[in-house]
Parts: sequence; structure tokens; C-alpha cells
Amino acid sequence: MAKPLRVGFIGFGGIARDAHMPGWSKLKGDGVAELVAVADVSEAARKAAVERFGVKPELCFENYEHMLGKVDLDIVDVCTPNCFHRDPTVKAFKAGAHVIVEKPMTVSAQDGEAMIAAGKKAGKLLMIAQSCRYLPSARAAKRASKAIGDIYWARASLLRPRGVPAWGAFTVKELSAGGPIYDLGVHILDWCLWMMEFPKPVTVSAALYLELSNKKSIMKHDPKKYTVPEELAMALIRFENGAVCTLETSWAVNAPEGTFSCFLCGKRGGIDWNWDSLTLVREEYGMLTNAKPQVIPEAGQASHSEEIYDFVDAILKGKPSPVPGEQAIVTQRILDAIYESAGNRREVVLG
Ligand SMILES: NC(=O)c1ccc[n+]([C@@H]2O[C@H](COP(=O)([O-])OP(=O)(O)OC[C@H]3O[C@@H](n4cnc5c(N)ncnc54)[C@H](O)[C@@H]3O)[C@@H](O)[C@H]2O)c1
Repeated sequence: MAKPLRVGFIGFGGIARDAHMPGWSKLKGDGVAELVAVADVSEAARKAAVERFGVKPELCFENYEHMLGKVDLDIVDVCTPNCFHRDPTVKAFKAGAHVIVEKPMTVSAQDGEAMIAAGKKAGKLLMIAQSCRYLPSARAAKRASKAIGDIYWARASLLRPRGVPAWGAFTVKELSAGGPIYDLGVHILDWCLWMMEFPKPVTVSAALYLELSNKKSIMKHDPKKYTVPEELAMALIRFENGAVCTLETSWAVNAPEGTFSCFLCGKRGGIDWNWDSLTLVREEYGMLTNAKPQVIPEAGQASHSEEIYDFVDAILKGKPSPVPGEQAIVTQRILDAIYESAGNRREVVLG
């Protein structure tokens, strides 16, 4: 049997330890891959790597470039805050590793292009960890999409009425660049574009709001740490093929309930997807019929683990990246245009 793939993390905080590690631990048990090194600027994170996951203390680094220079790695898993995705990814490619990087891919299309170019130059795979694609209901919806024909209208909605994260880097502009757009919107937009098979966006018109989050009476976070520009965002995106998509996402909005859903209208039917269920709408016998398929997840199936298994499978079998940079950069161009459009109060035309 081949030697296990050697894995290193850059950034070993919440998502790395609690969501990615169960996948890597299972692959270690299977003899396929093993965590050998961790780089994190936080001493507590490095301590957790040693105490919880058995990483050798001498293979825990404060500076990720030292890790890349000293340890031979097949895979680097980048889980740093959004503003620090580009450089670790580019340098990990230069060190000869495949890279899986958390969402959002990065915080500008220019950065994204540098990441894609570095992966191509190195001949290594780049995967963006868009975990929503791996939800059992999301995969079922993708299979069912064949039944609804070409999608010409999509409505993507991920609203939290009250859900400003009171921890971590989420609200800090220098670390995260943006608020719910990067935290939540990127999930639902990626999912929606994946279902639409990534048509080319041509215009974006958007608005951002920050009206509620700094009211101490209703929020638990420290308002001084809230430096991202939005708590609520909405956008209308037009595509070259004539399709349109609306996006709405929030950490705070005076709405009756939260959403985590996408409605897709195709020429032969529709799909109404929620994170844990879906409804398939088709015209049959002169009637609109709503079918509610039962989505039965396999035992132990977790979206973050599934994305890691898929990435490793692609590496081992020489397949393309399951979530390539070329798709994520389409989403990133739209996100860039959302901030530009909202800032200038004008529609942005994408080249
Ligand atoms: N897919 C999801 O559902 C999901 C959920 C949460 C977070 N995320 C993404 O994961 C990423 C990390 O989020 P988190 O919640 O784990 O944050 P976190 O703050 O818990 O962890 C980030 C870690 O990166 C470390 N770090 C910061 N700068 C560094 C540097 N230059 N070199 C090495 N380490 C550095 C920090 O010390 C920290 O331990 C973000 O991009 C976020 O968008 C994804």
C-alpha cells in the first residue's frame, strides 16, 4: 500500500479543528493521509494540534513559511481568516503541495487569479472548500437538476435575522474583508451558480446596509470590533445566457425568520432547496406537481469530511479538482462587483 499523504495546516482555528479534522482523522485511520504539521500564529492553536491531534511539537510552527521550507507536504489545508488565503496558497503551491482552502476563495478576483496561476504552474490541484455542495440535500438537488431543464431564474437567500458572530475574525475588516457576504452569501451563491452550471455574469447591481448591528440592546458582540461594511446585502446578477439570480444575505435583519434556501426556475420545472430538504416542481398530466423526495444521508456523513474525501480521491486518481478555482473566481468577481456597485450606487458591468 502507498504511503499516507502528508498533510499540513496553515491556520488551525475553529473550522480546521472542528470541521476539517474529523475528515483527516478518518483518512488517517484508513492509512490514506495523515496530519504531520501545523502552522498557526496562535500558541493556543499550536498547543491544540499537539494535545488533541498528536502533532509533534517540533512540527508546529508560528510562521507558515518555516513549515513549508522544513516539512515535505503533499497537501496543505489553508484555514486562515479570509484576508490571508492568497499568500499561504501561492507559497504552498511553490513548495509542491496540493491546496484545499476555506471559503471564500479570497477577497479579490486579482488574488484568486494569482492562486489559480500558482496551482497551474506547480501542476497541483486547488480546491475551494465550498462545503454546502456536500450537504446530502444539495447533492440530491444537483442530481434532480437534470429534470428541470435550463435555469433562467434563481433566488438565493441566506438570512439570519439575529446572528452577528460575537467571536473570531468575522466582523473585523482587516481579517475578513467583508461581513455576511463572505461568511454566508458566498455559500449560497456558490451553490446556486453550481446548480446553474456557472453561466458568465455580465452585470451586478447591489445594495448593502448596516442599520442594526451596532445597537447594544440587541447584539452580543463588541460594536468597536464591527468594522466590516455590511450586515445585510442584496444583489441582482444578470448572466450572458439571459438568466438572472437574486442574492440576499444577512447577519441582522428585521425579518420573521431565517432562510438557507435557493429556488431555481428551469424551463421544464423548478427546485426549491433548503439546506435539509428539497421540493421538485414539475408539470405532469396538466398539473403542477410538487414532489418532496426523501433525502437519506449515509450514517456519519458530514459535508466538510465529504469535501476532504473528494479532494483526496481527485489527487489519488489524477482527476480534476472537485471545486476548482476557475469556478470560485466567477463567484469572487460577483462579490467584488457587489461591493463596487453598492459603494457607487450603480450597476457594474463585468468585462
Ligand atoms: N465552510 C464553513 O462553513 C466555514 C465556517 C467557518 C469559517 N470558515 C472559513 O474558515 C476560515 C477560518 O475561519 P475560523 O472560523 O476557523 O477562524 P478562527 O479565527 O477560528 O481560525 C483562524 C486561525 O488562523 C490563524 N491565523 C491567522 N493568521 C495566520 C497566519 N498568518 N498564519 C497562520 N495562522 C494564522 C489564527 O491564529 C486562527 O487560529 C475563514 O476563511 C472562514 O471564512 C468556513
